[in-house]
Amino acid sequence: MKVLVAGGKGLLGTGITPLLQAHFDCAVSDIDEWDITSEAAGKRMFDLHHPDVLINLAAMTDVDGCEDRADLAMKANAEGPEVLAGLCSAFSVKLIHISTDYVFDGEKCSPYREDDEPNPQSVYGRTKLAGERRILERNIDCAIIRTEWLYGHSGTSFVDKVTAIAAAEGRLSVVNDQRGSPTYARDLALPVVAAINKGLTGIYHVSNSGSCTWHDFAKAIFSVLRMNVEVIPISSADLGRKAKRPAHSVFDLTKLRRDTGIEMRNWMDALNDYLADAP
Ligand SMILES: NC(=O)c1ccc[n+]([C@@H]2O[C@H](COP(=O)([O-])OP(=O)(O)OC[C@H]3O[C@@H](n4cnc5c(N)ncnc54)[C@H](OP(=O)(O)O)[C@@H]3O)[C@@H](O)[C@H]2O)c1
Repeated sequence: MKVLVAGGKGLLGTGITPLLQAHFDCAVSDIDEWDITSEAAGKRMFDLHHPDVLINLAAMTDVDGCEDRADLAMKANAEGPEVLAGLCSAFSVKLIHISTDYVFDGEKCSPYREDDEPNPQSVYGRTKLAGERRILERNIDCAIIRTEWLYGHSGTSFVDKVTAIAAAEGRLSVVNDQRGSPTYARDLALPVVAAINKGLTGIYHVSNSGSCTWHDFAKAIFSVLRMNVEVIPISSADLGRKAKRPAHSVFDLTKLRRDTGIEMRNWMDALNDYLADAP
């Protein structure tokens, strides 16, 4: 099976591509080689690699930056996926596309199911939802995996940022009114492999199980690392970021479990593993 990955050198790509390469003949590209918004570049990549499956990890992921550059966000997060869906249709290639919990408003008090109504509150969320819809409209062989709160060995995730601040300053403030499921990027590999091997189609929610606030997450990180850090709880309003984030974005993982048998491990077990692995 030949698998082509777009946007594969970011946080998620760094986490899953080594594992994908163990299962498939896998070619990994990123924007320096292939801008997904270019149909001509896409055709070149399809002609070069003859993929059976395309995994799209490419996106504009700077959530606050998207508020300032809605045009760029729309291009990368909606028009790019639409171009890819067209190519997959023309070349009879299966598409695995990654989306986000930010398609929801975070007002639901119980875990979000795949068929819950989206209501994004940010440019990032709106453009990612538009990407999902443009793909689904094409009626192609496609699975959309929504995930959330990713971290991994990319040097850019929440874990890296808070440990760097803590090491420099010994204390930090972290929001305590957003709840979600921190997810080790590497743990997405098995669901992606299952989506390919089991021929999944439609939307799937995938994250580590259990939930916490960002404040709890920071405290857990310092506890595992045995770092003595003062973690001050603050509200999202105190932090005052441009884009509104969902207050509650925990996923219901029933559909994934039912269709693949995959039981996602608890976020705390994944964090322990990640920190034991950290270079
Ligand atoms: N990180 C999270 O917590 C999170 C949560 C939920 C969902 N997701 C989704 O997961 C996917 C992967 O995210 P990530 O965290 O790995 O993001 P990332 O680290 O920003 O990686 C995305 C990669 O795509 C590239 N890219 C951007 N625009 C592109 C384009 N037009 N053509 C080709 N490549 C392009 C980026 O290059 P540049 O860096 O040069 O822009 C980057 O290398 C995205 O769909 C994202 O929406 C992420």
